[in-house]
Amino acid sequence: MNNFTHHSPTRVHFGKGQIEKLAGEFPVGSKILLTFGGGSIKSNGVYEQVKSALANFQVIEFGGIEPNPHHETLIKAVSLAKDASIDYILAVGGGSVVDGSKFIAAAICYEGDSWDILTTYGACVERAIPLGCVLTLPATGSEMNSGAVVTKDKTKDKLFFRSDTVIPRFAILDPETTFSLPPRQIANGVVDSFVHTVEQYVTYPVNALVQDGFAESILKTIISQGPLALERPTDYDVRANLMWAATNALNGTLSNGVPEDWATHMIGHELTGLYGLDHAQTLAIVIPALWKYKKQQKLDKLVQFGQQVWNITGSTKEEIADAAIAKTEEFFVLMGNPTTLSAYHMDATHIPAVLEKLELHGHTQLGEHGDITLKDVKEILALAL
Ligand code: NZQ
Ligand code: ZN
Repeated sequence: MNNFTHHSPTRVHFGKGQIEKLAGEFPVGSKILLTFGGGSIKSNGVYEQVKSALANFQVIEFGGIEPNPHHETLIKAVSLAKDASIDYILAVGGGSVVDGSKFIAAAICYEGDSWDILTTYGACVERAIPLGCVLTLPATGSEMNSGAVVTKDKTKDKLFFRSDTVIPRFAILDPETTFSLPPRQIANGVVDSFVHTVEQYVTYPVNALVQDGFAESILKTIISQGPLALERPTDYDVRANLMWAATNALNGTLSNGVPEDWATHMIGHELTGLYGLDHAQTLAIVIPALWKYKKQQKLDKLVQFGQQVWNITGSTKEEIADAAIAKTEEFFVLMGNPTTLSAYHMDATHIPAVLEKLELHGHTQLGEHGDITLKDVKEILALAL
């Protein structure tokens, strides 16, 4: 196991009715910026619950944060928040609202051009307004982590930043808020959290037994509960298990002391930025192809994944790895996320722009060994056609 430092400052309130706990999370007299997306919280009752819990606070609202939040939108919230001298940000929605709010929190305190926050991957961030969230879409883990992804719509640059200053101080996770998710977002959440887990697990063995076992437990949960969420959208236990799985898939626990890949995410971000595919749609396309391409290097962990997660028995390591990749593809398709570019009417002519953006963003040595170059990405995407 490799060395690690674990820091997890988010207080989590998990379960039915936990939105009530909001009032106790803010100092008396706080002025709160309430951020949200395109309106789902107004049709599923979450907005009313939040407003009633915050009845004794001064609340300023900023709605309209879009999926894959745009820098152009977020800077409007930054001006609003600066003018109003807010003390706290409360993000209510999916990963895009939480990520966008992390950016707003950091940008309020940053003197220069706020896009620097992304181009420096967060290195220029020294302070941020404190932030909390009510999560309505289990997928990204943003509710408990230091990362955020923001897109500059004008240039189609989708970049992430990380800063401990934007880790949510608290997160309210009420599985009932997820009952209203449409099938496409259920599938996206399932695939995203699955891929987060495997990007910290299907690398190479370092004898990290706790982390591997935890990853396997999360994956088995996602595999068993994902299809049930499509079948029985208001089954509380199904939603609760998926929600806690997604949070734990990217809250810093799985990555402790193990190698991490993230090539699929970096390639996927460019596909979303350029062509508008949902985040998880890109992941379902890239990861099976990447595994096929990197099968020999990842063989030991692909075999472990096949045996422990999919219960595959085979006579050779190669056979088990192949079957594990095939099972994963079947699962993504079953959830509703195809595994090819052609399913989105894309072909080889779409690949060069992805390579250009990766180069522009400095993502030219990807994967757990830093050996996935642009030439390799080209091959990987060709396998995903
Ligand atoms: O905008 P509203 O109206 O709220 O609707 C949203 C949106 O249209 C809807 N939705 C959310 N909760 C709902 C709901 N609809 C009905 N009922 C509910 N309870 O779902 C749509 C998608 O929402 P979005 O927040 O975009 O989805 P997700 O949570 O998947 O977030 C995706 C974003 O997170 C980034 C992605 O790149 C993408 O920009 N990621 C963030 C990460 C992080 N911070 O650590 C890591 C991830 O790998 C990922 O890159
Ligand atoms: Zn993701």
